[in-house]
Amino acid sequence: MQATLVLCKPDAVKRNLIGEIVARCEAKGYVVGDIRLVQPDRDILSRHYAEHEGKPFYEPLLEFMLSGPVVAIKLEGERVIEGFRSLAGATDPTTAAPGTIRGDLGRDWGTKVIQNLVHGSDSEESAERELSIWF
Ligand code: RTP
Ligand code: MG
Repeated sequence: MQATLVLCKPDAVKRNLIGEIVARCEAKGYVVGDIRLVQPDRDILSRHYAEHEGKPFYEPLLEFMLSGPVVAIKLEGERVIEGFRSLAGATDPTTAAPGTIRGDLGRDWGTKVIQNLVHGSDSEESAERELSIWF
């Protein structure tokens, strides 16, 4: 059974979209194996986003992710890594396809970094690494 890390980012929690996001995952057929509300600190975020260190959006991204609690979910099912990325939609919510989480529920708010409601692991290696950080 495959597992992926889903994060409901601070914008999703502030907008009361946790239930909507979990509902879409469950309606697709995936199973919530574990879930927790976390106020992340800089240490956990710098480990989670290690691949983006040095990029221009890195500091604004950490600032955004520190702005409130996030919900970490271990989501399970065959090919769930690929399947959740498909449910989430493209990184930019303005152009993310309607029908996706980002396309239906997200937009550009004029912020320094893209606020796009969810994170999903992008490979088996990332999923294993990220799940061990958050759980
Ligand atoms: P995620 O890791 O959150 O699932 O999103 P992703 O794979 O679609 O995007 P990634 O390239 O991994 O970037 C991580 C997060 O950084 C923010 N970002 N902002 N140019 C920008 O302003 C920019 N680029 C990336 C987004 O919040 C993105 O989800
Ligand atoms: Mg990514």
